[in-house]
Amino acid sequence: MNILILGSGGREHGLAWAIKQNPKCDRLLVAPGNAGIAEIAECASFDITDGGQVVNFAEENAIDFVIVGPEAPLAAGVADRLRAAGVLTFGPSAAAARLESSKSFTKEICDACGAPTAAWARFSEAGAARDYIRAQGAPIVVKADGLAAGKGVIVAMDEAEALAAVDGMFSGAFGAAGAEVVIEEFMEGEEASFFVLCDGEDVLPIGTAQDHKRVGEGDTGPNTGGMGAYSPAPVMTPEVQARALEGIIRPTLAEMARRGTPFQGVLYAGLMIRDGAPRLVEYNVRFGDPEAQVLMMRLGAQALDLMQAAAEGRLAGVSVNWADDHAITVVMAAKGYPGAYEKGSEIRGLNALPEDSRNMVFHAGTARDGGRLVAAGGRVLNVTARGDSLAEARDRAYAMVDAIDWPEGFCRRDIGWRVLG
Ligand code: AMP
Ligand code: GLY
Repeated sequence: MNILILGSGGREHGLAWAIKQNPKCDRLLVAPGNAGIAEIAECASFDITDGGQVVNFAEENAIDFVIVGPEAPLAAGVADRLRAAGVLTFGPSAAAARLESSKSFTKEICDACGAPTAAWARFSEAGAARDYIRAQGAPIVVKADGLAAGKGVIVAMDEAEALAAVDGMFSGAFGAAGAEVVIEEFMEGEEASFFVLCDGEDVLPIGTAQDHKRVGEGDTGPNTGGMGAYSPAPVMTPEVQARALEGIIRPTLAEMARRGTPFQGVLYAGLMIRDGAPRLVEYNVRFGDPEAQVLMMRLGAQALDLMQAAAEGRLAGVSVNWADDHAITVVMAAKGYPGAYEKGSEIRGLNALPEDSRNMVFHAGTARDGGRLVAAGGRVLNVTARGDSLAEARDRAYAMVDAIDWPEGFCRRDIGWRVLG
């Protein structure tokens, strides 16, 4: 099989690494990729949100299967264009990707199918939104309706912060994404992520994870794209998984199918769990980053077979071959992230590190500058390890971190603290 992955981050390096191990994979291409991906796949450069360019590239390169990494091409309808051209594709249609691209759409689906989630209201002007906040009181959560690169959610601990968030959104802080605003009840509990493959009809759970969104140790400081993750998430017991599947995920998928927009791809449910009861925080219509890195490390080569079965509508006949293992990834970021940071600093020491089924440094934002490996983004490396226990995986991941020579980078030293203390 010739396989094309769209995307350029640690998630796509993780996907490429797992797929490359599957003997079914002949040629592996990634667009646009990064310096780490280039070591295991051919990288190509074109606009991955332009369906026409993606279809042309797939046809010119005799691609048999396309896996879409990030949400932007999905929301732009790239999977629709590929399927219309007869290319087998993993990832939802633009209509089904609204589960991520519109927060009010997801809320409507939850209401229609009875999935538990935070009470909510939608506003298209500031006055009514301000009145609602004053009536509800704080804490309260203010969200830009559309895609805002993970930045459009303000969890306001007091009323003034919520009012300021509303004013910011309606004065264009998130562009078109903030033209509509969703205001939600603040949910308490423990957050976890649940990943399921869907083929439009059937669903297959492929793992749970927890991430660390805040930049600082002890989960303090500004929000980021994620500073680390581990899998499995202990709070996602078999009972909680069953409740999430039967009470949230299956009803959502049935409602999507009923509307004529069945969901195919990976559905990433962000859940809030309290007293064993999960409620939906949000859906994403793609793998998490860095959650994919720990899932891929645990699934290995079978990830390709599972994604192919989802794309071909064959999930009913497949199962996951589970190992009783744990994986962790520690994000190394450029100093200053998530604020302003420098690009171009040299990273040394990676060549001496093990690269096997239990230890892998995935590249999130790197480039080659002559012979040098340099930082090319905010989140730069995902130092990932797998072990029989989370403690073992954590110790090996941090041993790798300590062997990396990159003075301009930093990481959190407490990834996994909820479990490990
Ligand atoms: P989202 O982009 O919707 O996942 O929101 C980002 C983060 O904000 C989530 O991961 C939660 O930590 C938090 N959050 C979102 N909605 C709520 C809510 N209704 N109650 C409490 N926390 C929330
Ligand atoms: N790590 C969170 C996300 O991928 O959205």
